[in-house]
Amino acid sequence: MSEKQVRLALIGCGGIANAHLRGYQTLVEKGVDTFSIDATCDVHRQAAQNYAEKIAEFQGTTPRVYDNVEEMLKTEDLNGADICTPHSHHHISAIPCLESGVDIMTEKPFGVTVKASKRMIEVAKENGRIAAAAENCRRSPGQRAVRWALNEGNIIGTPRMFFAQSASWRDPSEAGNWHWRLDKELSGGGMVMDSGAHMMDTIRYFFGDVERVYAEVRQIDEQFANHAERGKVRSCHEDTWVAIINFKSGVIGTWSWTTAAPVHGFLNVAFYGSEGVIRDHGDVFHPFAFQERGEVEKLDGTKYTINELRDMYLETLSDEEKERLFPFGIEDGFALEVYDFINAIKNRRPPEVDGWTGLQAKSIAIAIYESAWSGEAVSIADVLDGKVNGYQKEIDEHWGL
Ligand SMILES: NC(=O)c1ccc[n+]([C@@H]2O[C@H](COP(=O)([O-])OP(=O)(O)OC[C@H]3O[C@@H](n4cnc5c(N)ncnc54)[C@H](O)[C@@H]3O)[C@@H](O)[C@H]2O)c1
Repeated sequence: MSEKQVRLALIGCGGIANAHLRGYQTLVEKGVDTFSIDATCDVHRQAAQNYAEKIAEFQGTTPRVYDNVEEMLKTEDLNGADICTPHSHHHISAIPCLESGVDIMTEKPFGVTVKASKRMIEVAKENGRIAAAAENCRRSPGQRAVRWALNEGNIIGTPRMFFAQSASWRDPSEAGNWHWRLDKELSGGGMVMDSGAHMMDTIRYFFGDVERVYAEVRQIDEQFANHAERGKVRSCHEDTWVAIINFKSGVIGTWSWTTAAPVHGFLNVAFYGSEGVIRDHGDVFHPFAFQERGEVEKLDGTKYTINELRDMYLETLSDEEKERLFPFGIEDGFALEVYDFINAIKNRRPPEVDGWTGLQAKSIAIAIYESAWSGEAVSIADVLDGKVNGYQKEIDEHWGL
């Protein structure tokens, strides 16, 4: 058994686990010695084995390898589990961990449905454990700076509205195999709640709580549906949506995406205040989080690049705030989220993005599906208390929730 204060397991050793692994490696390289990764677990044992070998290269000790969470919990003395499984298996992996006294952080979206998310929060509470939602985007200097600009910084006046729209064309004959992401019970939904989970956290981070949503969600291109049939999964792969999002603060926004728009594609991501606009030229899922391509433009003619805005924001931070938000000068959101989780475990304090925050972001994406399902505007309060659950019902029933 490792003697480190925080002993972790990595559950789900697929694509995104690699970004978490690089995050842990960054921390080790910066001299953080409070944690160790003692176990890797994946239903495909070879995947867990491969990750254990990669971790050994920077950690110096090799995690033990498991293909079953319960088996791992019986053998290991863990404090935390970093869960990177498909959406349906966030709660399925998390609950036994929490019941065994292990704190958890799950990848986004927090749970596969609202009920699954609430169950994790309840079990964490019953067992006095931490339930964190992994969210890397809001931790980037770009998103931190834009949040500051829209709020305390008052850079473009009172926030009023946003437009986040992307239209592109994907040749249906080149549809890839999206595995579990195509199956409604495993994924819970398509891109609205997959990459969309980041955008939903972002808009809450910028503008606060959402009141109400109206949306249409479609799979316009039949060939994607047919492709999914061939793969013998029920396709859950919307290629188009249009959503209107109303915030409690009075801010309004539209979020639309399609890959079924031939010939003329465009991207327009613009956040407006009473005195100007902040634009992003990246994508409609992770504004300002990675490329930091964009600019601020004000009615009085002032212009800044996002990088200049970010420098203005960083200058407002005290040394203590810089150390808290960007410890050791780290700016990678994955390294920052795993560091926050480790410190939450070590110091018994809430993580920045706890289960409730993860659920709030998730509930906006779910409200989009529920609105499209019912044809009505949907309130977030009704989604959260389970009054509106028509879209999610079959997923909840499938998993016995
Ligand atoms: N933060 C981000 O930017 C980001 C990006 C991509 C994916 N994600 C999220 O990460 C999660 C995983 O996505 P991915 O793209 O890595 O998927 P993936 O399919 O590449 O990896 C999932 C892994 O989980 C394993 N697995 C499945 N069931 C398991 C179980 N019961 N116990 C242990 N392991 C199990 C699979 O074998 C696979 O290796 C999802 O929640 C996804 O939304 C986040």
